[in-house]
Amino acid sequence: MENIIFKPVMLGKVGLKNRIIRSATCLSGADEKTGNPSSALIGRYKELAAGGVGVIITGHAYVNVEGKASFRQLSICSDDDVLELSRLVNEVHEAGCPILFQLSHAGAFKAKEGEPALAPSDVKNPKTGTSCRAMTVSEIHSTISNFAKAAVRAKDSNADGAQIHLAHGFLLTQFLSPLFNKRKDAYGGDDIAKRARIIFEILEETRYRVGDDFPLWVKISVMEGIQQGYTSLEGIRLAEELAKAKVDAIEVSGGTFYGNETLTPSRTGIIAGKNEGYFAEEARAIRERIKGRTHVILVGGLRSIEVMANFYDKGVADGFALSRPLIAEPDLINRWIDGNREPSECISCNACSRTGKSGIVYCPVMRDATEGIWAPLPEC
Ligand SMILES: Cc1cc2nc3c(=O)[nH]c(=O)nc-3n(C[C@H](O)[C@H](O)[C@H](O)COP(=O)(O)O)c2cc1C
Ligand code: SF4
Repeated sequence: MENIIFKPVMLGKVGLKNRIIRSATCLSGADEKTGNPSSALIGRYKELAAGGVGVIITGHAYVNVEGKASFRQLSICSDDDVLELSRLVNEVHEAGCPILFQLSHAGAFKAKEGEPALAPSDVKNPKTGTSCRAMTVSEIHSTISNFAKAAVRAKDSNADGAQIHLAHGFLLTQFLSPLFNKRKDAYGGDDIAKRARIIFEILEETRYRVGDDFPLWVKISVMEGIQQGYTSLEGIRLAEELAKAKVDAIEVSGGTFYGNETLTPSRTGIIAGKNEGYFAEEARAIRERIKGRTHVILVGGLRSIEVMANFYDKGVADGFALSRPLIAEPDLINRWIDGNREPSECISCNACSRTGKSGIVYCPVMRDATEGIWAPLPEC
């Protein structure tokens, strides 16, 4: 019998040929000056699209220049970007795959040096120790507009939707965080629902601008993963509110890059069949509470098709997102569909995340395997 994961499905208003999603993965392949996708980056997306995934979510694209997080990141901050973004979309569509742009603002983790980074409050970045400047209300309002305009650009590029990045520690996580958000005005407060106000205003303005039919997804960190940060109980409550706000799909991730190292979004030490899907419990709790109003997608450490089918049967999630396995093997889904059901070859060492500093992100472990000189990196 065909595995349920491989059957076509409508997920968050997008038609997918299977339930597997390429989770947003910044490949550091845009032109540094313009933020437009390079030919090499488009090539990587074509390869992914041809490799069998049901839908691709791009790496996070910055909605304004202050929100740029890293070198050679994709831009969606100007109307001038639309032409080049639509080139990327067309190529992926030609390979038979839908694509969503992930929209993001780095906040305290901006790439550009000089002026202090914008954050919800005047706090020190917990990772770098550098000071941030609290956003004024007028800066908050223009950032809300920047997200909404970026979603319109996604639509104008003929993309199949947009995903708003609320996860992993960027600006919108910082608003949710009691460590970053100490505001006394309407954008802060002692409750996560109050600190989430900017997010609901972004969703409202975006929905108004793109219309009811354009898919709007979100990716959340269900917990902050740091002492005194927000907890998974608060993250689950946030997801319930997001479902009420009619987002079309919630991708459940967790942790932040400034939090506890064992609770990061891209955990190491994943062994297929043993400890896959490290946010499954929280995803199931969310799915139970929102009762089909919004689709739930699980991400984090998924490595084998049997585990995903089992999670599906147990009501954990409607869709399953992969990042590192598709860096290691962009054609993994076709391999599974063709009958080789061995788990992903990815050993979850995170060496790939360091390759973006010198070029487009790749998997050094698999490359060495191909060259016959495979050896785990010392840091793995
Ligand atoms: C190189 C790299 C880049 C990533 N870029 C993004 C990104 O742009 N946006 C995002 O939401 N998550 C990003 N992630 C996190 C992944 O989408 C995913 O949540 C995480 O790696 C866990 O899934 P996995 O075990 O399948 O890799 C990135 C991960 C890696 C390794
Ligand atoms: S370097 Fe390769 S094996 Fe290691 S986590 Fe990245 S994709 Fe997986």
